[in-house]
Amino acid sequence: MKIETLRELYLEELRDIYDAENQLLKALPKMAKAAQNEELKAAFEQHLEQTQEQVERLNRVFEELGEKPKGTKCEAMKGLLEEAKKMMDETQDEETLDAAMIAAAQKVEHYEIATYGTLRTWAELLGFDEQADLLQETLDEEKDTDENLTELAVSSVNLEAASEEGEEEGEESEEDEEEEEGEEKAKAGSQPAGRGRK
Ligand SMILES: [Fe+2]
Repeated sequence: MKIETLRELYLEELRDIYDAENQLLKALPKMAKAAQNEELKAAFEQHLEQTQEQVERLNRVFEELGEKPKGTKCEAMKGLLEEAKKMMDETQDEETLDAAMIAAAQKVEHYEIATYGTLRTWAELLGFDEQADLLQETLDEEKDTDENLTELAVSSVNLEAASEEGEEEGEESEEDEEEEEGEEKAKAGSQPAGRGRK
């Protein structure tokens, strides 16, 4: 497809994210099933429902635009999900697998956040206010999901994965624990979207 106008670019990007969301609809149930941590399982299940609504929202955006809902293969999402699958296949320990899945899911969320942010801005520029509102709604959901995953990672999942490493090292002194707490805080800062930061 030859793209000459911002409207055409907007339409093509909508088709990309439409396909991306549909790919994600197939991957999320597998991630929910594999999740060991109950809260993480629930988070994936909730995001699956949200993703279904997001596809519906995109249907409405296409309709508003007077176009048929149609996807164009999103190679980026395909790559992200292939990488996620590879990591899931290779990770043997269940707690470590949870940490790996959060990492993969946050990469997906960041891709979606970038795309919806751009689409919302283009919709506003093109004067498609209702479409901009719909895209903003999804953008907010993706950001919430990302923050929720960070919260889960730093409050429990990363710690559960990390405790696997120390299991054979025996009892720790209080001093060691204090030191570790500081380390955990430092690690938390490297999770993609830290708490309280937008
Ligand atoms: Fe999404």
